[in-house]
Amino acid sequence: MTGSSVREALDASVDALRAAGVDDPRLDAELLLGEAMGRERSALIADGGAEVPASAARAFGEMVRRRLRREPVAYILGRKGFRNLELMVDRRVLIPRPETELLVELALELQPASVLDVGTGSGAIALAVADELPTCAVTATDTSPGALEVARANAKRLGLADRVRLLEGTLPEGGEFDLVLANLPYVPERDWPALQPEVTQWEPREALLAGPDGLDAYRSFIPDCGRAFRPIAATTSAALAVEVGEGQAEAVGMLMREVGFERIETRRDLAGIERVVFGTGTVV
Ligand SMILES: C[S@@+](CC[C@H](N)C(=O)[O-])C[C@H]1O[C@@H](n2cnc3c(N)ncnc32)[C@H](O)[C@@H]1O
Repeated sequence: MTGSSVREALDASVDALRAAGVDDPRLDAELLLGEAMGRERSALIADGGAEVPASAARAFGEMVRRRLRREPVAYILGRKGFRNLELMVDRRVLIPRPETELLVELALELQPASVLDVGTGSGAIALAVADELPTCAVTATDTSPGALEVARANAKRLGLADRVRLLEGTLPEGGEFDLVLANLPYVPERDWPALQPEVTQWEPREALLAGPDGLDAYRSFIPDCGRAFRPIAATTSAALAVEVGEGQAEAVGMLMREVGFERIETRRDLAGIERVVFGTGTVV
């Protein structure tokens, strides 16, 4: 593509990306060329006649080749926006999704003094809560050492390392939290073949799959979480909010009721899907 204008470079790659089955080839091509040229996407589009320098053309060509193999744009760029933060991401972590911001919004409504984020991945929820609730003590866990490395690097880069305690595992010993948030794996095995290659070939399976009906992770986590709340049941109420997949809210609400959560609410995402199940109560 040496000697091409921005417009020509974009048009050529959009055709190739479309042929490879990419959902939004123009947006992706603009993001990748913007990265290669060190320019904002809007400035790039406004200046379609500008020549693409040779080094940028080579970098763009390499990024398009990666995208043709259906590698997600976020892994190619190495970053993803979430709330007010830019998080570094790679194949050790799930790419944070916009609907997960609902859990952060819930924390902002409740204004807890302490939060536990279980299955933190890139650190998205924990770091956003720490960023937006400056007095909240935040702890985050993950069973994946690779994910924790990414979360630690994000915490450091964002200047939040002294605000978020990151621990390997699920529930910290002796922890007492006003609010527990979790976005654990919830994809049913039967849905796996129909997912986009960006997910099935690139994102960590252990961050996504949770048995035949997608509820295995919550079936073991919610009772454990109920037990973890017991020491504080006499003095305060417990609050747990988890992200779920389409059609899972009722079953997950039942799991919460079984361990003693009395009031169960759900929150819908922008597509109208019940995405968050929120339980409160005194767990006994
Ligand atoms: C769906 S990803 C969510 C990542 C991040 N919280 C987000 O919303 O972008 C699930 C994460 O939970 C972790 N995980 C799975 N089972 C776990 C468990 N029992 N305890 C703690 N973490 C777990 C996985 O390693 C993965 O990082």
